[in-house]
Amino acid sequence: MDFKNILVTGGAGFIGSNFIRLILHQKEFNGIIINVDKLTYAGNILNLKDIEEFFGGKRYFFEYADICDYEKIKEIFKKYQIDAVVHFAAESHVDRSIYGPKDFIQTNILGTFTLLECARLYWNKTENKRFHHISTDEVYGSLGPKGYFYETSPYIPASPYSASKASADHLVRAYYYTYNLPVTLSNCSNNYGPYQFPEKLIPLTILNIIEEKPLPVYGDGKNIRDWIYVDDHNRAIISILEKGKIGQTYNIGGENEWKNIRLVNKICEIIAKETGKDKDYYKKLITFIKDRPGHDRRYAINCDKIKKDIGWEPLISFEEGLKQTIKWYLNNMDWIKTITTGKYKEWIDKNYRRR
Ligand code: NAD
Ligand code: TYD
Repeated sequence: MDFKNILVTGGAGFIGSNFIRLILHQKEFNGIIINVDKLTYAGNILNLKDIEEFFGGKRYFFEYADICDYEKIKEIFKKYQIDAVVHFAAESHVDRSIYGPKDFIQTNILGTFTLLECARLYWNKTENKRFHHISTDEVYGSLGPKGYFYETSPYIPASPYSASKASADHLVRAYYYTYNLPVTLSNCSNNYGPYQFPEKLIPLTILNIIEEKPLPVYGDGKNIRDWIYVDDHNRAIISILEKGKIGQTYNIGGENEWKNIRLVNKICEIIAKETGKDKDYYKKLITFIKDRPGHDRRYAINCDKIKKDIGWEPLISFEEGLKQTIKWYLNNMDWIKTITTGKYKEWIDKNYRRR
């Protein structure tokens, strides 16, 4: 790995915290990580408690900051002599974007713009520098029963979330074409794994099963998503940092399509096995509810480019990844309680917001 001082944005969130854990434990990386996070409802500093204890003040530094704050980000670039940015920070939940799009426009578009400007102005030489932007397959819109998203597929975002991510992607590419900023981009399918805030389908279903609450399934439950284990996504990002070509976009996917209803049934079965209940015990909780407006029908990624050019492929089977994830949630009820009750918020307010 050529980069020494990596600025990770949104490192207290789900994918970012798993990324920091993965890269700091890799023997190929001996640099430092600076985690810039605003600690929204989705960002949890406790996600990196082990990392803070082991690497804190030596190879890991946390900066409580908003990526839209130009002066603060500029100062961080200078203070740590940043040579690479891995940009995860975003508002990331589609349903929230439908009920309140403003924060999505602010963070996902203006926040990305602020980071790009800081990188452009701080890096007067672009050798051995990199701005890697994390995006989603949702920018490509919705597929019919056949076909896949390619890096060349047109952008047809349907939700305020995907439109804001699409907008950020365009800005990142514009900075490459206009200013030669050394960028790479990746568009990934739906992630799952430990530390995901329980509002997305998999952790929400697990949590509701544990509490024997209704399991909401939107519409007819036949929408399809391609699921990838979070470490497979993060290994792909590390490979792009090492071998990616400047200006290029890489699609990342799990090659693992599931209808939502089939997935919810599967989670019910795995948890029933874990808790010693009858195979169908939790399925009675499944509740079909009104569909999400603008609900994309199917996502499916073709990731031949990253396989061929970079030599990455997903390694964790869905069976294994899902079982591990469910076990993690069952064994980490304290984490769930802390982040879903007022306690975590109080702790953040005390330790960070009043500084
Ligand atoms: P997340 O919601 O779990 O975490 C987002 C993090 O960003 C949080 O720690 C939050 O505090 C931080 N953040 C939000 N606004 C900020 C701001 N203004 N300044 C600084 N920090 C801020 O999200 P995630 O699921 O980990 O997703 C990370 C990235 O990956 C996002 O860019 C998302 O679009 C992309 N992505 C996610 C998925 C998925 O399935 N979750 C799939 C493809 C791409
Ligand atoms: P989600 O996890 O919100 O990810 P995204 O919308 O980014 O793909 O949703 C995954 C799929 O599950 C999507 O088709 C919407 C559906 N869904 C439900 O059916 N019920 C739920 O409670 C949630 C949160 C999602």
